[in-house]
Amino acid sequence: MSSLRGNNGPRYRHVPNDATPYETITIDKLTPIIGAEIGGVDLSVPLPNHQMDEIHRALAENSVIFFRDQHLTQDQHLSFGRNFGNLHIHPAAPHAPGHPELMIIRADKDSPRANGEGWHSDVSCDTEPPMGSILYIQQCPPRGGDTLFASMYAAYEALSDRMKAYLTGMTAVHDGEESYRGTYANLGVADKPVYPRAEHPVIRTHPVTGRKALYVNRGFTKRLLGVPRDESAAILAYLYDHAENPLFQCRFRWQENSVAFWDNRCVQHRAMWDYWPHTRSGFRVTVAGDKPV
Ligand code: SIN
Repeated sequence: MSSLRGNNGPRYRHVPNDATPYETITIDKLTPIIGAEIGGVDLSVPLPNHQMDEIHRALAENSVIFFRDQHLTQDQHLSFGRNFGNLHIHPAAPHAPGHPELMIIRADKDSPRANGEGWHSDVSCDTEPPMGSILYIQQCPPRGGDTLFASMYAAYEALSDRMKAYLTGMTAVHDGEESYRGTYANLGVADKPVYPRAEHPVIRTHPVTGRKALYVNRGFTKRLLGVPRDESAAILAYLYDHAENPLFQCRFRWQENSVAFWDNRCVQHRAMWDYWPHTRSGFRVTVAGDKPV
């Protein structure tokens, strides 16, 4: 893992941006850099405008937000997601019967794999990758099954000025083929003839916060364009290693009926499958996004 030691204090200094108090929700930050647990909200009912504004703000300031003790029907989960935009349909994963926008997240004793075991940003292989994902876990193992989240703002900001200059204007290929082909065969899902593939900037600017974020991930990014393949492989290996520094991360310990809402434009995540043979299950609603710039 890359070191962030400077010659004079930490090389990465987080500047908090959350001075104004919230009025309709409570905020309990997991770390100064990423993640906050939100209180005072019932996601099963239509939310007043001011509370919705504060949830938007909490997401912008914390990149991933968590809600405990929520009791949502499938329709309520979908309705909450629609507050943030159109819903995205996953190109490969199985969904709840009759609800293509409700992706099934489940691993049990018979599973050959679990969703999201490596660091990734959801479906970054799409031309317009999802803005955010809202995961509702209803069944938890007795221990384990945490999800790790990493701030790609922090990862970008901690790069050296020379590396930032090198990556500025560079694009990368993201491809779903390797991740998706055959992955859901055990659940009876037939493969598509082709899976999404797209080219995105390596550094993207968040449309809401205006902050820059590193936008390459082990799950989908295949190569940097405009440089030789060996150089691309070496630089990507460095960037993945750098992005996975625990300094940029928070770790969410699920309880039954918790919700995590992460912003794929500035966050990568990784799910821990450390609970076999137990079961962890829920549903994910994914909010559509824009073409990264
Ligand atoms: C995913 O959406 O990548 C799965 C995350 C999780 O199960 O914690």
